[in-house]
Amino acid sequence: MINLKTRFFGFELKNPLIVASSSLTADADKIKAFAENGAAAIVLKSVFEEEIINEYNQIGESKSASHFDEFMDYFDYKIRDQVLASYGRLIKAAKEVSKAPIVASINCVSAGDWLQFASQVQDAGADAIELNLFVMPFDPTRRAEDTRRFYIDTVKEITRRVKIPVAVKISSYFSDLAAICHELDGEKLAGITMFNRFTSPDIDIEKEKVIEAGTLSSENEYLLPLRWVGILSPRLKCPIAASTGVHEARHVIKMLLAGASAVQMASAFYKKGPAYIGEILKGLEAWMDKKGYESIGDFKGRLSLTKAANPALYERAQYLSSFGGYAGS
Ligand SMILES: Cc1cc2nc3c(=O)[nH]c(=O)nc-3n(C[C@H](O)[C@H](O)[C@H](O)COP(=O)(O)O)c2cc1C
Repeated sequence: MINLKTRFFGFELKNPLIVASSSLTADADKIKAFAENGAAAIVLKSVFEEEIINEYNQIGESKSASHFDEFMDYFDYKIRDQVLASYGRLIKAAKEVSKAPIVASINCVSAGDWLQFASQVQDAGADAIELNLFVMPFDPTRRAEDTRRFYIDTVKEITRRVKIPVAVKISSYFSDLAAICHELDGEKLAGITMFNRFTSPDIDIEKEKVIEAGTLSSENEYLLPLRWVGILSPRLKCPIAASTGVHEARHVIKMLLAGASAVQMASAFYKKGPAYIGEILKGLEAWMDKKGYESIGDFKGRLSLTKAANPALYERAQYLSSFGGYAGS
């Protein structure tokens, strides 16, 4: 009998498939469908600090300068309360339709009221929190140390403030990725999700206009998280969930072999719907059966940096000899 159990978000999960935070997880009916089809955990759509700030600024623009301050004071609380109340309703509705853990996702770009937000999300019944932390490094006056401090301070404060498990979802935009993960690992996290994938700008050459690039990932994007899961999994105490480009059972297997405890998927579910979970689980089980593995623990991390026969491939970045042999076409 094959056992797919694993651990992430501080819970024993029935399998390694987590539905990633997205608009797929912003609605109770969709959440119900994912839970019924076997999702091990569901991360709700993030509640965004920027969204609140934008709404706040739009209201501000419509007010005359003389009324600006009083309106801003009022709307600051009002908007936050409304956003919080609506997110609280989503958490409660999700809990009613899902036996799988429901994870609230908070996107912060600054410290502060987010600590209060985390407590309220906990009170609304979330089983865990995933902190979606990201600072786009486009500000030439912001040093890496400022970003590091923001990450560590936010995580420290929130893990101190709430009782439910806290995981962090990070991007790959770090010059010292291993060091940051190592430091985050010291904060008793229930997991690190690597990596978030963001909207990107593209250019329409006919209209000569900057446009938004495709929203969904393509499957070869799994190679970036695969490298870092392989490098970091033997070095971190907390579990890792791999995210970005995980589209098929074979990608899930690769991530587990590299040392991930779980995967978070969004794009594949946008394309194929919640019933696709069953297909992936079947593929994972068939592979385990063929290989004679009975549990995830039998092969998890078998090909991580410290266990692979050729670990240098994880750390090597330059093409060296393989480029020398490239004939071109
Ligand atoms: C339409 C859409 C909305 C998303 N919204 C969020 C979000 O609110 N919070 C978050 O942490 N990630 C969000 N993501 C990122 C996903 O959770 C996931 O990390 C990313 O899409 C990479 O996984 P994938 O290759 O399986 O799509 C979103 C992704 C998509 C496609």
